[in-house]
Amino acid sequence: MKVAIYNEFQGPISIANVSDPNPSEFGVVIKVEACGLCLSDWHGWMGHDPDIVLPHVPGHELSGTIIEIGRNVKNWSEGQRVTVPFVGGCGSCTYCLEGNQQVCDFQFQPGFTAWGSFAEYVAIDYADVNLVELPDEMNFLEAAGLGCRFITAYRGVREQGKLTSDQTIAVHGCGGVGLSAIQIAKGIGARVIAIDISDEKCKLARELGADFIINATTTDVVQAIKELSKGGVHVSMDALGHSTTCLNSINGLRKRGKHIQIGLMTESHAALPIPMPLVVANELEILGSHGMQAHKYPEMFNFISTTGIILGNMITKTISLQEVPFHLPKMHQNSSSGITVVNSF
Ligand SMILES: NC(=O)c1ccc[n+]([C@@H]2O[C@H](COP(=O)([O-])OP(=O)(O)OC[C@H]3O[C@@H](n4cnc5c(N)ncnc54)[C@H](O)[C@@H]3O)[C@@H](O)[C@H]2O)c1
Ligand SMILES: [Zn+2]
Ligand SMILES: [Zn+2]
Repeated sequence: MKVAIYNEFQGPISIANVSDPNPSEFGVVIKVEACGLCLSDWHGWMGHDPDIVLPHVPGHELSGTIIEIGRNVKNWSEGQRVTVPFVGGCGSCTYCLEGNQQVCDFQFQPGFTAWGSFAEYVAIDYADVNLVELPDEMNFLEAAGLGCRFITAYRGVREQGKLTSDQTIAVHGCGGVGLSAIQIAKGIGARVIAIDISDEKCKLARELGADFIINATTTDVVQAIKELSKGGVHVSMDALGHSTTCLNSINGLRKRGKHIQIGLMTESHAALPIPMPLVVANELEILGSHGMQAHKYPEMFNFISTTGIILGNMITKTISLQEVPFHLPKMHQNSSSGITVVNSF
């Protein structure tokens, strides 16, 4: 099969022919139909993820068709159209047994703990716990657009943030995660303040429903949030992963507000001083959000269809596998608005 592969962190990515994968005992092999390109792929290529073993094939925001089944897989058959959350649970550790596969002790993450889906075929382990059947009306491109970003934003806003229709949320960073969070928050009926450093991205945020936009390069972000929300927001999300966005997010909260950290922090940003006196005095909550469990997808599909969210609105570019080596190393430059998806292999 054809794959996009690298042999060293921050080294060249090439298109190569390698052996087709085989399913594990509890896994399947999927013919990849679409795969989103994500800043997390860039983090992996940079060497920020200790799970990655070289040489490596990245890609984790996939949809496709099952073509082969491991001998102990019970619930799936060849030909089914599926996707997977980027964090797959093992199904038997303490966290999986309590339904929190997104923090499993033995995570399977395509494109991180194993070869991923910038490839014609990908092997997915623990299929019974992690595969999700696509609704008939959802095409492969839209399903890949759910990626890790929409599902993580969904869990962040609804499960962790518990955002309600009478509340206001601030979303710091309007890339794939942020735009997803904006649409989900509008689906709930909440007010949304969107923050980015690019006018173009602020414009897309507005088009997807943000009530207010703030360009962080020209405005005091915390002051603007406090003014727009009359004292601070109920829920706030760092959808970038930077000390600036994280602190702006925490400092823009009202009393008893919730900060949701979704953006991954590189080492230089992770050591930032969280204002703990404020956390205590204002009873703030600081929460992480890490993917979403496969068993929550049906509820999310229902939310998408009842609120009329159009997933395709976030997909602004489609590319071929051959173009991955060009685009992936530049993901951190945040140059294009919306989500890029590979749809030809
Ligand atoms: N926790 C998880 O499970 C999980 C899941 C998915 C993605 N992530 C992480 O979330 C982060 C965001 O991913 P993405 O794909 O949306 O990235 P992205 O590059 O598409 O978006 C980031 C956005 O932040 C904006 N930005 C840059 N500096 C800013 C500033 N000072 N203030 C406000 N906005 C600013 C950029 O212009 C860009 O629009 C990444 O770190 C990714 O690895 C984490
Ligand atoms: Zn587990
Ligand atoms: Zn991703």
